[in-house]
Amino acid sequence: MSERFYTTTPIYYVNAEPHLGHAYSTLAADILARHHRQRGDDVFFLTGTDEHGEPIENAAAKEGISPEELVDRNAAKFEALMPIIDATNDFFIRTSDPRHEAKVAEIMQRVYDNGWVRKGAYEGWYCPRCADFKTEREVAEGNTCPIHEIALDWVEEENWFFELSRFQERLEALYEEQPDFVVPDFRRNEAVAFIKGGLEDVSLSRPTLKWGLPLPWDPDQRMYVWFDALLNYVTALTFAREGEDLTERFWPADLHVMAKDILKFHAVIWPALCMAAGLQPPRRMVIHGYLLMGEKKMSKSLGNVLDPFEVIERFGADALRFYLFREVSFGQDGSISTAGFEARYETELANDYGNLASRVLAMVARYRDGVVPVECRVDAVLAEDFEGALDRLRDLIDRAELSQALEVIWTLVRRLNRYVEETAPWVLAKDEADPQRLDEVLYNLVEGLRVVTLMLVPFLPATADSLLGTLGEEGRGLAELGSRGGGQTVEKIQPLFPKIETPA
Ligand code: MSP
Repeated sequence: MSERFYTTTPIYYVNAEPHLGHAYSTLAADILARHHRQRGDDVFFLTGTDEHGEPIENAAAKEGISPEELVDRNAAKFEALMPIIDATNDFFIRTSDPRHEAKVAEIMQRVYDNGWVRKGAYEGWYCPRCADFKTEREVAEGNTCPIHEIALDWVEEENWFFELSRFQERLEALYEEQPDFVVPDFRRNEAVAFIKGGLEDVSLSRPTLKWGLPLPWDPDQRMYVWFDALLNYVTALTFAREGEDLTERFWPADLHVMAKDILKFHAVIWPALCMAAGLQPPRRMVIHGYLLMGEKKMSKSLGNVLDPFEVIERFGADALRFYLFREVSFGQDGSISTAGFEARYETELANDYGNLASRVLAMVARYRDGVVPVECRVDAVLAEDFEGALDRLRDLIDRAELSQALEVIWTLVRRLNRYVEETAPWVLAKDEADPQRLDEVLYNLVEGLRVVTLMLVPFLPATADSLLGTLGEEGRGLAELGSRGGGQTVEKIQPLFPKIETPA
């Protein structure tokens, strides 16, 4: 049954250059989007840039250029990152787009008309890097930001407030009714604890901010950037396709992807804002951990820093995609390193998978003139291990457990390697009395390779696509072992993941 799947990444601040952390969230969403396309779902995948607010204003001032100049320059870099990492986003939203700005004004006016805002005085701590007002519980030792470890600013100002406190019960009910609103569970518990701790109203505007959208009902005040930013998930649908409004088709979003730093905004404020604006809240969000990039382990050819652009240039985007989701259990924090990258590249990509593909195709070429044997049955010993794997994969992807999903696939890759060893086709090839058995083994190997490669499409899109081409596979949908007969003509291939050459 085909369904629709709308997924998003955070929109990234353009005060800095894109880095691997941004690529990581985008790749997670891309893997999910590609998998759902494989299922035949109606998919929309959104990413983009967050271009207002104090962090941007400050960064521009520091460089001595206008905010407009800064955002145009840096947004272009984020947009350019997408094809480099092979992300298949359906749209790239920029919050400085006048179409977004107009829609935000319209929605916020509705929030005002519906009676969810009030004027008041704000006194408290503010982090200019988070662009966030901190509640007492969020202030670290010495009035510092627990995330950025910088001194917080004490601010006293006349603000408009969004009356978050009045959503206490409705938010508690939402979490009761939708136990998977936030995954993984431990993040959901954090959100629930935050809500149960008692909600305070949040600042909706800042009189001192210049680089922000004016409040439609009080244009002297500029909108606090998070309201403008969160609304991107809805506004984009209204103008992503010329002359078409996709809201009916895709709202509410199926899955917002982000790291834990912005949990509160998405898990608490965002559903309340939706309710205030008369919009349905999103269906679900997945909160992943941080990639820790500080490790100083020297690798033999890459040096110290895992520069995504360098890695991609030398090894391709697939290798990086694979490494990130294999090395760090999606949802947890985890360290990445160049040495770790090279180890996985060699043992898993080059050996486990690349060699399997090369060997299987070489044997079909050598023993059967490149023609995949026909009229064969699935070997019972393999069938047993492939049984239920597709369901497990779909299930894990549905829970956004990307690393576990990859493990399901890798277990099959390893199983196929053992099957080669167990059946030793090179021995069977010498036994002229029983050609049927060699046919069967080769058929099973090609079929197994096809099935795992289809599963790998979201993780290794370029490699999978090329190998599936070689295997004569036309579709890209998931398939059960034994669902295709033989008869295709295949050829030997160059190594999918060539050995790493250590520079002199
Ligand atoms: N502009 C806001 C988000 C608004 S969404 C309506 C913002 N931008 S950001 O540029 O700071 O991006 C934060 C997000 O980037 C994180 O939530 C995460 O998705 C991603 N990451 C940035 N660094 C990362 C790591 N080191 N590791 C994992 N994800 C990282 O917050």
